[in-house]
Amino acid sequence: MTPALSIRDLGIRMGGRQILHGVSAEIHEGEFIGIFGPNGAGKTTLLRALLGLCPISCGELLVFGKSPGKANHSIGYMPQRGDSIEGTALSARSLVSAVRRGESWGIPWPSSASRNDVALALELAGASSYADRPFSVLSPGEKTRVMLAQSLIDKPRLVVLDEPLASLDPKNQMLLVEHIEKLRKETGTTVLFIAHDINPLLGVMDRVLFIAGGGAALGTVDEVITAPSLTRLYGMEMDVIKTDKHVFIVSSESNVTEAACHA
Ligand SMILES: Nc1ncnc2c1ncn2[C@@H]1O[C@H](COP(=O)(O)OP(=O)(O)OP(=O)(O)O)[C@@H](O)[C@H]1O
Ligand SMILES: [Mg+2]
Repeated sequence: MTPALSIRDLGIRMGGRQILHGVSAEIHEGEFIGIFGPNGAGKTTLLRALLGLCPISCGELLVFGKSPGKANHSIGYMPQRGDSIEGTALSARSLVSAVRRGESWGIPWPSSASRNDVALALELAGASSYADRPFSVLSPGEKTRVMLAQSLIDKPRLVVLDEPLASLDPKNQMLLVEHIEKLRKETGTTVLFIAHDINPLLGVMDRVLFIAGGGAALGTVDEVITAPSLTRLYGMEMDVIKTDKHVFIVSSESNVTEAACHA
C-alpha cells in the first residue's frame, strides 16, 4: 500500500541556512502522528514542503506517492496562525464555504450539497453554535475551531494541523483532540498534528515525529521520547521524566524544565 507520506534523506535550505537535513520517515495511511520539537526546528517548514509551498533542496518527499503539491486536493491544512484572515467581516460559515475547491468564480453561491458539507465540517470541528457570527469577533479558541472546520471540508485523506491547541484551554484542548481522533476513527484520515505539549496527545498518537537540530526521529513515544534519542537530536543533554499520565522533557544542562512538559 502506498504510504501517506514517504520522506527520504530530505534536506531543506532557506535564507542561506540548512533548516532540515537527512530526514527520513514513512507514515502509513490512517496513522495519527504527533509532531514536536523546539521553536524554529522546522516543523511548519516540513508541513509547507509537503504541500509544495516550500522547495526541498535534496532527497525525496512523496504524498500518497505524488510530488509535493500534486496531492493537495486530498489534504486539509490548518496553518499555524490565521493572521491573514483575522479581520475578515465574513461569518465563520462563509469562510468555511469559501475554501471549497474553487469550483466557481466570484462570490460563492453554494449548492445544497455544498451547504451540507460546510455544516458537517463545522459540526465535526465543534464550531456550529457560532458559525453565523463574524469571524473577527470570535475568541481565539473559537477561531481555531473554525479554521479546523476549513481543513476538514472536502473529506481529506490527510489532515495537517499546525498547532491547533495553541489558543485553547486544557478542557478545549482535550475536546479538540477527541474530535480529531473520532474523525480519524470514522474516516481513516491520516493526521499530522503539530503541538508543543506532548501530553494532550498521549492517548491518541500512533507515533511521534520529533524534529530538532535539523534532524528528526520517528517512532512510538517509548522509542523517541527518551533521554538518549532527544540528547542526540538536540545536541545537548536532555532528560525525560515519565509519570503514569504525563511526560516531561527536561534540559539537564540548564536544569530547566522546558515549560513544564512542553517539547
Ligand atoms: N521563508 C523563509 N526564509 C528563511 N528562513 C525561513 C523561512 N521560513 C522559515 N524560516 C526559518 O526556518 C526555521 C524553521 O522555521 P519553522 O517555522 O519551520 O519552525 P517551527 O518548528 O514551526 O517553529 P515554531 O515552533 O516556532 O512554530 C526558522 O529558523 C525560520 O526562521
Ligand atoms: Mg511552526
